[in-house]
Formats: sequence, structure tokens, C-alpha cells
Amino acid sequence: MKKIERQNLSINAEAFNAKYLDPAEVANGFVYSTHFERLAGDYHAVLIGPRGSGKTTLLKMLEPSALATWVGSTAEAFRSAIKYSGVFIASDISWSKQLNSLGYGRLSEQNHRILVLACFTTHVIHAVLETMAARVNSSYAYRSVIVSADQEALLARELAAALRVRPEIPSLLAVRQALRNRLSEIRLLANSCSLLSHEQCSVRLASLDYLHLDFLDICSNICATFNEAVGETGARWSLLFDELETAPDWIVDQLFSALRTSDPRLYLKLAISPVSATAYRALFKQDGASLGHDYQQIRLWYSDRADSKTFCRALWASLSQKHDLKITAEEALGRSVFEPKDNRGVRRRSPYSPGEPWHKVFTSLEKKDHSFANFLRQKGIDLSAAESLWASKRDTVLRKAAPVAAVRDFFLHQTKNGEVAARQRKTLELYAGADSIFAITEGNPRSFISLASPLISFLAKSGERRVPGAEQAKEIDAAADRMIALIKTIPVEHASAQGDELPLDVLLEAIGLRLHSELVEKHFSIDPAQSFVVDENVSERTQALLASAVNRGAVMLVDESSSKAIVGEMLNANLRLSFLLAAKYGLVLRKGKTVRLSNLLPIRADQPAKPPNGSTQLSLDMD
Ligand SMILES: Nc1ncnc2c1ncn2[C@@H]1O[C@H](COP(=O)(O)OP(=O)(O)O)[C@@H](O)[C@H]1O
Ligand SMILES: [Mg+2]
Repeated sequence: MKKIERQNLSINAEAFNAKYLDPAEVANGFVYSTHFERLAGDYHAVLIGPRGSGKTTLLKMLEPSALATWVGSTAEAFRSAIKYSGVFIASDISWSKQLNSLGYGRLSEQNHRILVLACFTTHVIHAVLETMAARVNSSYAYRSVIVSADQEALLARELAAALRVRPEIPSLLAVRQALRNRLSEIRLLANSCSLLSHEQCSVRLASLDYLHLDFLDICSNICATFNEAVGETGARWSLLFDELETAPDWIVDQLFSALRTSDPRLYLKLAISPVSATAYRALFKQDGASLGHDYQQIRLWYSDRADSKTFCRALWASLSQKHDLKITAEEALGRSVFEPKDNRGVRRRSPYSPGEPWHKVFTSLEKKDHSFANFLRQKGIDLSAAESLWASKRDTVLRKAAPVAAVRDFFLHQTKNGEVAARQRKTLELYAGADSIFAITEGNPRSFISLASPLISFLAKSGERRVPGAEQAKEIDAAADRMIALIKTIPVEHASAQGDELPLDVLLEAIGLRLHSELVEKHFSIDPAQSFVVDENVSERTQALLASAVNRGAVMLVDESSSKAIVGEMLNANLRLSFLLAAKYGLVLRKGKTVRLSNLLPIRADQPAKPPNGSTQLSLDMD
């Protein structure tokens, strides 16, 4: 039983991954974002983004066959602006576990590296050949080059000489096949070398010059050969490296040092995951390549909510189109309580006037929540006042108070005998609405697709134009449970000596529940604590767990400028729970005020808490 569940989980995790799509399939569902424009320019670039943020998609879109098949309003502009041919280099073969085991672990480090690098180089050249073959006499007009059989034979001979391969016949496909054979030969060589002494092996490897090709040099060489053969002398190419976080550090170092090459014939576009990425640490080691001058850094998470909304809306439109539906996200999902709209200029009535839905929320809360009633009194707000006040300060205050009021009203319950207490809710209906769904997915395409797809299926099956709040809530809950299941699988790298610290899922739940209780049970505040800074009282192990959580998208970096946090240094990082977990634990979908994390965590029994400023109270105030 358990086994089946796990299998399903892994299938789900792989379901939305551009790795398994060919260029035309990627182009077919591609939704343009500003990230693509920044990536596509004539320069080196480093794409940084957590899983599912669209790194593979963006890289694959730079392949000529993806650009050729892309239909979209901006497609034509990109086709003419992009002057290079993109070569996508998947991570699977180049640095798989198989590479590590070359020579059964019996080779010296130096000999092993020579062989691994040779496999890597062969893999990269193979990808270049693939792109060349795809361009020659292609059925797509875009970047197609017409080459006669004789011309191809000549080109193939030149390439074969440079690559030191002997193809069966002089054709591009035969050269490509010869490269595949070379990969097998290198494996054979490694195995036979494992029977030799390190010195004998070194002598043997030194005698085989194809093992010592420099991948950048050989790629730019063969691209120049191709360019000349097809009459495009001087044309540019770009190598698109995916998933560098899984590559050996020393290969990554080589790639990052190549970013230094100014006026390159080959642009490098490198994709990596943040935080745990050895790749990104290597980037920081590179003092030679300077950001903005030699390369562009593109962070694939949204600091601007408006940008993220635009992307989510377009992705919704693209997904619903596949079901022949023409219903906007706003129409289908309705409004979010976390983005109370200001109707000034559109309608004459204030959205907080008697009879309006918000008025009901405020009056319901005022009755049961003394703290809110006090707040209104302090601000001099009389909810029953005439709507003529709509343009006044009152509405500005109420607009800010609305999301918090909605959460408190949802969770605070008054019993028949008048007692008011926070209660658990079985449904997350409070979090329905287009803007909430957008926020909950953080603009991450994979999260958005996995949350929106069942909602769109609901519309398609039911024939309705609206997804009921309960249905949306069910999917949010399921998505949150999937996230929690995922973070449960994060291995604990720094096992604690005491063995008593919280696992990640429990840790995040503790943070969520604590923030929820502050938000709902304590004094009403227009700006409640919702984010936290990792202070020096947080153990290193907890910091390491948080870094993994950031990498999985369970916790988000709030402070955009913090490069140290991106490379996994959690101390002093400003974080918040992802809005998906925020919904699960009953928080507002806002960044909110920041507090010290150690003040949110349960005090450990064996360690008397060091009271800050001599106070024994748990204070939520920042120092
Ligand atoms: N711009 C986009 N338009 C449409 N779908 C996208 C876009 N970016 C990503 N996706 C989809 O989201 C999922 C995750 O994208 P992927 O490129 O695999 O992310 P990553 O490589 O960062 O893990 C895939 O199903 C992909 O098809
Ligand atoms: Mg990927």
C-alpha cells in the first residue's frame, strides 16, 4: 500500500517537467514572460530558480526548432531578434552517476577527471551536432539552411577531422553517430584502464588526443566550420546548460570561468537551482566574471506581484484554451479577500458600505472581536455611517484592515453563550479567488499548472463558468499536502547530537501555527507578523533545514537583495512561509511584519531560553 502511494507521488512530481518535452511541445504551451526577454539577449546569462520555475522551458525555447514552432504575439519579434542558434545540453548523460563510476573507482583522480571531462565534451559536441542536423534542410523556414549532398559531405569531413572521429559515411548524422560511439569507447577505455597502474593509465590517456579536446574551443571551432559551409560566416551560437546543480563542481567552475570571455563567439546560458547549488557557490568564487558586465543574472521568482499575476493570467488562458474554454481566471475563480478592490471611480458606493459583502465581514467581526471593535473605535470608524464617507480616510484604513479582518472573522467563532474562541476550519475556502490562487502559486509555473489544472478540468466537466470556493479550497489543501509530503522527504543532513530537534515539516507547522495564533487570537493589528528573520539563536541544523525548504519552494526569500541567502546562508535571511503553507496554516497572503525566528520556535525543554533583554516573555517585536 505504502509503496503504491510513493510511486504515485514520484509520478506526480515528474508530471510537470519540461525535461521530457521536445522543442515543439515546449513551444506549443509556452507562455511568454519578461524572464525570457532577459535570458534571450546577446550575452552570457545565469538563470537561477527553484524547481518548477521554468528553467528548462526557457532554455529549450532558445533552440531554433522551438522558436520556429512558437506561435504567439511576441514570437515573431523574438525570431528576428535572436541571432544565435541555441544548443540545449541536458544534464542526464553528462554528469550522471554512471560517470562517477567510470573505471570502477580504481582510477587516479586525475585520470578519472580526464575521462569524465571527455564524456562531458563529447556530450556537448553531440548536442551541437544535433542542432546543426536539425537546421540543415529543415522543414521549418526559421534558421533552416539549404545544403546540397556534396556540401554536406564536405562539411561532415571537415567536422570529422576536427573532432577526430571516423564516420561510416560523410554526413552530419554519421558524425553524430560516431560521437555516440565515442561515448561507449570512453567507457570501455575506463574499464580497461582500471586494470593498469595509474602511471600506465596516464600514458595511455595522454596518447589519445581526442580525450583532450577543450569543449569551448572545439565547439566554437565546429560552429565556425558550419557557419562557413552554409554561408553565415561570423554567426553566433549559444550553449544552453541545464541543471548545473547536479554537475561536478570542477566542471561548473570551468563553465563559470568561461563567463569571463568577453566578445565570445559562443554565448553561455547556465541554469541552476538556488541555495543548495554547488553551482551557485562556484559562481560566487568567480571574482573574474562580474555581474552585469560579463553576464546577466536572472532570478526566476517574482518580487513584483503584478508581473507574477500577468504571467499566471496568461498561463491560465493557455491551459484553458487546451480545453476549448474561454473563461478568464477572474471569471472562473472570483475575487480574493486578500486583494480588496477599491472601486473608486468605477462605482459610486464604497465597498465597505452597508449592504456590501465587506460590510458584512466587518460587522460580523466587530460583534465577536473586542480587539477589532476597539481598533475601529480608536480610528473613529463607525461602520454604520453613511456611504457618503466613501472617499474618506475611513476607507483607506478599512482597505488595509480588510485581509486581517477576513481571516479573524473566518477563524473566530462565538458560541451560543457568547464565548469567542479560534476554531479549526475544515475548509480553506477563505483562500479561494483568482488573486489568492495566483499568490499561492508564487508565479511558479509548475505549482500554477498543478493547482489550476484540476480547476480547469472542473469547468470542462461541469460546463459551469465558475469554480465554487469549496472546490478551489479542496485543491489548495491537496497542493499543500503534497508540499508537506515533499518536505517530509528532505533528508536531515546535520543530525543533531541531542536528537531532539524538530524535523522540517514539524518546524514549519510550528512557525505557521504560532503566526496564526498571533494573527487570530491576539490583538487586532493592521500589520501582523507574517515573516521572520533567521537570528543567531536559531540552530545551525534548523538553518540548514530552512535552506532546503527555500530550495523546495516551501519557504520564500523576502529580501530580494540578499545574495548570501540565495547561496544558502540562512543567518540573517528574511523569510516567509510560502503562501501555499500560509493558506494551510491560516495566515494572510501578505509579507507582513518581520519578527525574530527564535521567538516563534518552541523553547526546548533541555535548554533554558536566553531571554532577550532580560524579559521572560516571548516577544514578537524585532530588535
Ligand atoms: N513559460 C512557461 N509557459 C508555459 N509553461 C511553462 C512555462 N515555464 C514552465 N512551464 C511548465 O511548468 C513546468 C515546470 O517547468 P520546467 O521548465 O520543467 O521548470 P524547471 O526546469 O525550473 O524545474 C513544466 O510543466 C513546464 O512545461
Ligand atoms: Mg528543469
